[in-house]
Amino acid sequence: MEEAEPPVPALGVGMVGYAFMGAAHSQGWRTVGRVFDLPAAPVLAAVCGRDRTAVEAMAQRHGWAAAETDWRALIARDDVHIVDICTPGDSHAEIAIAALEAGKHVLCEKPLANTVEEAQSMVLAARRARERGQLAMVGFNYRRVPALSYARRLVAEGRIGPIRHVRVCYLQDWLVDPDAPLTWRLQRDRAGSGALGDLGAHIVDLAQYLTGEPVVGVSALTETFVRSRPDPGASAPRGEVTVDDAALFTGRLASGALASFEATRMAAGRKNSLRLEVNGESGSLAFDLERLNELSFHDHTEPAHSAGFRRILVTEPEHPYLEAWWPPGHALGYEHTFVHQARDLLEAIATGTDPRPSFADGLQVQRVLAAVEESAEKNAVYTPVQT
Ligand SMILES: NC(=O)c1ccc[n+]([C@@H]2O[C@H](COP(=O)([O-])OP(=O)(O)OC[C@H]3O[C@@H](n4cnc5c(N)ncnc54)[C@H](O)[C@@H]3O)[C@@H](O)[C@H]2O)c1
Repeated sequence: MEEAEPPVPALGVGMVGYAFMGAAHSQGWRTVGRVFDLPAAPVLAAVCGRDRTAVEAMAQRHGWAAAETDWRALIARDDVHIVDICTPGDSHAEIAIAALEAGKHVLCEKPLANTVEEAQSMVLAARRARERGQLAMVGFNYRRVPALSYARRLVAEGRIGPIRHVRVCYLQDWLVDPDAPLTWRLQRDRAGSGALGDLGAHIVDLAQYLTGEPVVGVSALTETFVRSRPDPGASAPRGEVTVDDAALFTGRLASGALASFEATRMAAGRKNSLRLEVNGESGSLAFDLERLNELSFHDHTEPAHSAGFRRILVTEPEHPYLEAWWPPGHALGYEHTFVHQARDLLEAIATGTDPRPSFADGLQVQRVLAAVEESAEKNAVYTPVQT
């Protein structure tokens, strides 16, 4: 008789927040075990939101076994081993620290926190938890776009040589209308900052991830173009916008390479446009999220007469994450990044390795965002990033 494979251990996931990221993460947890061979099986144990009817409907729709209305009760559940935080930034630190102290692994959406101080306390909690065997990771999901993971591999292999320039912009247009409502994303006490923390956090993380180098100083301008917006929940018809609508900054990387960043939710016609280019001494890489299966690569060591940017279709089984998906040329999309994120965290937990981006990586991004705000207050004076 054939011996049965020993079953992989089950890890219960408890997710807080059930709207945009809640739906995207649910998809990741639900799909990951059906695509990848995993050393641990995720179980969608419970989802938490404050409105019982809404959270129960969400649980039903996305396959969560139970619904809670208080995140403390979710953390206290014995069937929850991983706490997945998909709430606005004002609750990240409190939930993450409580979860780590209760012996749970944590996945926390970006930006890690609303302030450097909060992020520092989260890093300390993650360090203490690490000693007990619990791990913590930040949800910078764009690292998990296969073309960007592959770009990182090419940079690390030296295929473009020492880096000279990084150019990144992340453009959306959902705030172009001056009468778009005042949601939590436009309130400093809830979101920390505006386009800066929302979109800028992603591109700072990507620049640091792709180059393997921290941003060490910045020179920045920010602007709030629409200073009040309709506030459906309040007594006054319009409420104050307390965050930036756009952030534009240049930066220096540790090696001396120069970087430029632009983040805005006011770029009419741009829905979710994240474009980047990295130039090195022996080549360049370029990427556009609207064509996320493609990476452009120029090898500057080739003879000039035949050199030039070529398009790599990043769908081969040798490419990151692709071994488990479809035959070459059968493209992936945005939601796959959340499947990859779930896979990487489960593998890290099962093998006891530190997942990236870590809370320390999230803190480094937070420090860059703080330096951007400080520089912008001084009209773009060059401001070193705290270490
Ligand atoms: N990785 C990405 O690409 C990406 C994209 C969008 C948002 N985000 C991040 O994800 C987080 C959530 O953003 P979103 O777009 O999903 O927001 P959202 O407004 O769509 O959802 C927020 C959810 O949090 C819940 N919530 C708020 N406070 C809560 C509390 N105290 N207890 C329980 N539930 C609470 C809300 O009810 C809602 O379900 C933010 O940190 C945001 O920056 C990341």
